[in-house]
Amino acid sequence: MKRLLASLLLIIPAAFSASADNDVPQVANVLNRHTTSLNGKWNYIVDVQEEGFYDYRMKPNRWGFFLNAKPQKPEDLIEYDFDKSPSMNIPGDWNTQDDKLFFYEGTVWFKRSFSWHPSSDRRTILYFGAANYDTHVYVNGTHVGHHIGGFTPFNYDVTDLLKDGDNVVIVKVDNKRRVENIPTLIFDWWNYGGITRDVLLVDVPTTYIENYKLALLSQSEKKGKVRLIDFSLNLNKAVAGQQVTLSIPELKVKQSLQTDKDGKVSTTLRVSKLQLWSPDSPKLYDVNLVCGNDTLHDAIGFRTVETRGKQILLNGEPIFLRGISIHEEKSNGGGRANCTEDAHHLLSWAKELGCNFVRLAHYPHNEYAVREAERMGFLVWSELPVYWTIDWTNDATFNNALHQLNDMVARDQNRANIIIWSIANETPHSPERDSFLSRLAKSARALDNTRLISMAMEVTSADHYHNRLQDNMNEYVDVISFNEYIGWYRDVNDAPKMTWEVPYNKPVIISEFGGGAKAGYHGAENQRWTEEFQERLYKENIAMLDKIDGLSGTTPWILKDFRSPRRVLFGVQDYYNRKGLFSDNGDKKKAFYILRQWYDSKKSASQNNNKKK
Ligand code: GCU
Repeated sequence: MKRLLASLLLIIPAAFSASADNDVPQVANVLNRHTTSLNGKWNYIVDVQEEGFYDYRMKPNRWGFFLNAKPQKPEDLIEYDFDKSPSMNIPGDWNTQDDKLFFYEGTVWFKRSFSWHPSSDRRTILYFGAANYDTHVYVNGTHVGHHIGGFTPFNYDVTDLLKDGDNVVIVKVDNKRRVENIPTLIFDWWNYGGITRDVLLVDVPTTYIENYKLALLSQSEKKGKVRLIDFSLNLNKAVAGQQVTLSIPELKVKQSLQTDKDGKVSTTLRVSKLQLWSPDSPKLYDVNLVCGNDTLHDAIGFRTVETRGKQILLNGEPIFLRGISIHEEKSNGGGRANCTEDAHHLLSWAKELGCNFVRLAHYPHNEYAVREAERMGFLVWSELPVYWTIDWTNDATFNNALHQLNDMVARDQNRANIIIWSIANETPHSPERDSFLSRLAKSARALDNTRLISMAMEVTSADHYHNRLQDNMNEYVDVISFNEYIGWYRDVNDAPKMTWEVPYNKPVIISEFGGGAKAGYHGAENQRWTEEFQERLYKENIAMLDKIDGLSGTTPWILKDFRSPRRVLFGVQDYYNRKGLFSDNGDKKKAFYILRQWYDSKKSASQNNNKKK
């Protein structure tokens, strides 16, 4: 029995031996705060068998990698040394920085030293824009937190762990796919692993602004020329009587409020001469917040979005969403996109296509991308990676999805351009799936009732040429969105014969349609993989979809060829999904021009309608 107990003890992760849970709620608007960047070269150790985490042998000199141990005597045995290990650029996935890790799915440890000089009455928050997927963080050998999820920020108050002088942060990232994860075991994109977004030390006072929200109330609530803006803010502490000052100089707003016993304030602002945010006029206002020693600036746009029957209304006017789907992948041949320049490059292609809308698939993209889209005038569909065959009956999986939803909304709730929160993509129908998603949809609406809720559904055809959408989730969403692949996965020649039935009095978005082509491969239009095949597919799908009653937008699949381990056709796919309108080298395919022509016609029609008013 003793041996059994001893062996069980051996597998207790040594990593938790010195642990403090420093997890604090997400600090909003970090990019506009005073930060010290830890981006740059980090040493790394690939740890296939979790050597550095589980102390199977319990040898006296057995050290977990998180301690960054060094031999003290010549005879000491330490079987790792970060400082002698290779380094890679952070933020950045490991797959495209080390050929040996291109397909790797497992644990990699990262180490960064930095010097620090703590100052009194300040706190230091260690912030990660994201790390994919299962992450443990250690500061000077102490475990400060464990985060699950690959696409949303997380942060820890490490103030009391920092030393005056040299400090070490060590991060363990494990990107293994697991059935209980969000996303689950299978998904059609590259499982880029690592610290994929910024690492920052955020400097805040002991009492600081944790989050806030400014939202223009809907058209129906305006009082003539006067517009109403809801404002709410919460501090990191439940302290009453703190003075919070909000100013929006251009709107002649300056309000001082006192926090309540929960450290919160809220009010409704009355403003006039408000210039609304829209794709054609992406107006952002300087917003300043002050609370004690904490000052924070943001750039915020004001608009309303709602539905009326089968129409989507932006600022009270019907809008057609000329969209495109985008994966978060650099435009120059792969790797996780993670900065403004990456986003600007991809969004410039979308602008060239004539888009006013982007579906940031299939997970929350980095904050730079959302803010750049806002500046450039793109409406945004932001999505949770609740993708395909999720473990619907697993409570931990639901809580994971809920956590990622909360983090997505907390980070971006002030981005005027986000109009849709999407809670899922192509999830097989079942009572368990309906239960999971309906709870998630209700949570999304409770978190934020100023945006539309949707999800990418699947079409169930009533008979061969008649396509009928039927999804129990219709009552939980504001917009009926679905993916269809007529011309690619089915009915290659039958798009012109197809009719559609969407039996719900709600707007319709086609969240995916499209087909593959290898850029530069030309031939007959019935020859799979030619640009001509894709071009014909777009022509026929557009003609077919344009007849759908209530069609309010499309986000064809996809802007750019992207890496996927599921696409293995040698010489054609080569681990790329080739449905892009741009190749992975940035070459336009012929279908690009078909979609642009259609969007140009949609834009002209909209301008003519506006002139008639
Ligand atoms: C699905 C899925 C995408 C995938 C696409 C495809 O609709 O939502 O993630 O890449 O089909 O098969 O190319």
